[in-house]
Amino acid sequence: MRIPVGVLGATGAVGQKFIKLLEGHPWLEVTQVAASERSAGKRYADVVSWKQNTPIPAAVRDLEVRPCTPDLACRIVFSGLDASVAGEVEENFARAGAIVLTNSRNHRMDDDVPLVIPELNHDHLGLIPVQRRKRAGDGYIVANSNCSTMFLAMALGPLHRAFKVEKVFVATMQAISGAGYPGVPSLDILGNVIPFIGGEEEKMEVETRKILGRFKGESIELADFAVSAQCNRVAVEDGHTESVSVKFARKTTVEEITEAFQDFSGPPQRLGLPSAPERPLIVMSEKDRPQPRFDVNHSNGMAALVGRIRPCPVLDFKFTVLGHNTIRGAAGASILNAELLKAQGFLD
Ligand SMILES: NC(=O)c1ccc[n+]([C@@H]2O[C@H](COP(=O)([O-])OP(=O)(O)OC[C@H]3O[C@@H](n4cnc5c(N)ncnc54)[C@H](OP(=O)(O)O)[C@@H]3O)[C@@H](O)[C@H]2O)c1
Repeated sequence: MRIPVGVLGATGAVGQKFIKLLEGHPWLEVTQVAASERSAGKRYADVVSWKQNTPIPAAVRDLEVRPCTPDLACRIVFSGLDASVAGEVEENFARAGAIVLTNSRNHRMDDDVPLVIPELNHDHLGLIPVQRRKRAGDGYIVANSNCSTMFLAMALGPLHRAFKVEKVFVATMQAISGAGYPGVPSLDILGNVIPFIGGEEEKMEVETRKILGRFKGESIELADFAVSAQCNRVAVEDGHTESVSVKFARKTTVEEITEAFQDFSGPPQRLGLPSAPERPLIVMSEKDRPQPRFDVNHSNGMAALVGRIRPCPVLDFKFTVLGHNTIRGAAGASILNAELLKAQGFLD
C-alpha cells in the first residue's frame, strides 16, 4: 500500500514535476490534485498545460482538480503554490492536521519551520515537535530552499564542515523554468540576460545561513558567515549555474576541497532513500564543465555538479556549481524530504 498524497499547485511548473517524479514512486501515490479556482472542478488533463517530456501519468490524467482547501482525502501534501497564496493555504492545511512539504518562500524563515536538505541538516527536523507545540496541532510544515540556494548550500555544506566558511560571493545564471509557466516573456529573454530576479538575492543570502545553521533545541542559530548574491535570468531552459568565491577560516587546498566534495554524503545515501542520488555532489574535471545543456540531468536531476575549482585572488577559492532547478531545486527536494520524514518515523 502506497501512501496517498496531494499536490497543491498541481498545474504549475513545480506541480507538474511532482506528478512526473511521483509516477511509480515506491512509497507515495498522487491521489489528489489542487490548484486555483480557475482550474478547480475540471479534469486535470483538460486544464493543465503539460510541459513535461513524458505523458501525464494515467493515474492523474482523469483526477478532478480540487480547490486548495484542507478537506483533501490525504494527510500529506506537496505544495508548488504561487507565493501570493501559499502562506495562508499551507497554514490552513497544517492546522487541519496535514503534513505540508513546501517549495514556496512563505514559511521558510519561520522560526519553527525546518528548512531541510537531508544530506546537510536532517537534525533540523527536531523543529517539528516545537512547531506542533507552538501551533497546537498534529500537522506541520517542512520547507525546502529556494532553487538557487539549494545548489549553493549543497556545495558549501561539506566545505563549511571542513574549513569553516567566512565569506561568500555568488553570481547566478538562472534558467527560465525557474520563473514558472508561462514565466518570462520570450521577447524579454531571447538573446538577453536579465540582471534581476525579485527577492532572489535576499533569499540566497539568508536561507543558506539557516540551512547551514545549528539546531538549538527550539530554533536555528544562523551560520555565522556573510553571503553576497547577484542573480541573473538567462536564456536556458532548465538548470541554474552559479559562480562561487569563498573565504575560509582554515587554510586548505584545491585537492582538499575536491576531496570534501567527493566524500560528501548523508542520511539519504546511508538509508538508500528512493530519490537519493548515489552522490549528492559530482565533481567534473573538464575545464569547461558543468554546463546545463549536457549535465543538468545527471543522477536524474538530483545531484549538484561542481567544477572549475581553483584559487581566487580576492577570497580563497572559487568554483562553479550547477543543478536542476525544478528537480533537486524544487519538487525532487520535497520528495526527498518526505522520504526522510518517513524513514525517521515522522509520517506515522
Ligand atoms: N520553478 C522553479 O524552478 C521553482 C523552484 C523552487 C521553488 N519554486 C516555487 O514554487 C512555487 C510554484 O512555482 P512554479 O514555478 O510552479 O509556478 P507556476 O508555474 O506559476 O504555478 C503556480 C501554481 O499555483 C496555482 N495558483 C495560483 N494562484 C492560486 C490561487 N489563488 N489559489 C490556488 N492555487 C493558485 C496555479 O494554479 P492555476 O494553474 O489554477 O492558476 C499553479 O498550479 C512558487 O512559490 C515558486 O517560487 C519554483
